[in-house]
Amino acid sequence: MRAWVLSLLMGLVWLTGQAWAGDISPVIPKAQGACVDEPQAMRRHHFDYLKHQRDDTLRSGIRGAKYSLKECVSCHALRGHDGKAVPVNAEGQFCQSCHSYAAVSIDCFTCHATVPDKAPKTAGVTQ
Ligand code: HEC
Ligand code: HEC
Ligand code: HEC
Repeated sequence: MRAWVLSLLMGLVWLTGQAWAGDISPVIPKAQGACVDEPQAMRRHHFDYLKHQRDDTLRSGIRGAKYSLKECVSCHALRGHDGKAVPVNAEGQFCQSCHSYAAVSIDCFTCHATVPDKAPKTAGVTQ
């Protein structure tokens, strides 16, 4: 291999390494109060909890249980400067902030509401 090709490749490897080492992490909007579980556990397992609860509701008719998607939205939706709730799946908002970072796409919000029925529980306002 020619020397310049080799050094170009080495350069690319180095650059990729820099990008990974750099401080790139999602900026996750904060909710107020306390989550339905430890944030650490929610970060790692929320999808399992949600799917489990969905199955309980759809198959066994259990409602009002702990990991309600409706409740996630009611706490995690922030308010815009106009006082209206901002959809949790909008760019930079709670669910989307992590999912774009992790390249996850969910279909839940084709059926489920992305804003709370009432005013958001959270006092937070988006930037
Ligand atoms: C009563 C309000 C409330 C409800 C309901 C709620 N959360 Fe939370 N959640 C919080 C708060 C407060 C935190 C910790 C502060 C923060 O990170 O926003 C949190 C943290 C989290 C985190 C960790 C965020 C991070 O920065 O790593 C995830 C993930 C999460 N919640 C998902 C959910 C999901 C999914 C649901 C629905 C099953 C839900 N939450 C329901 C208030 C709530
Ligand atoms: C095709 C429409 C549809 C899609 C897509 C969908 N759901 Fe649902 N979901 C429903 C319906 C209908 C109910 C029943 C509502 C009721 O009877 O309370 C439900 C109930 C639930 C419940 C229990 C009620 C609550 O508020 O917690 C959870 C949790 C849930 N779904 C999570 C999810 C998640 C997570 C996804 C995405 C992975 C998803 N759903 C995608 C239609 C849908
Ligand atoms: C702290 C980052 C973070 C936040 C905040 C977050 N998610 Fe996730 N979510 C993830 C990651 C990472 C995955 C992929 C996990 C995997 O596939 O192992 C995921 C996966 C999911 C899945 C499963 C997707 C699939 O195809 O199976 C659902 C459903 C989901 N999230 C719902 C939500 C909802 C609803 C919210 C907002 C209330 C939310 N998440 C907020 C990081 C987050």
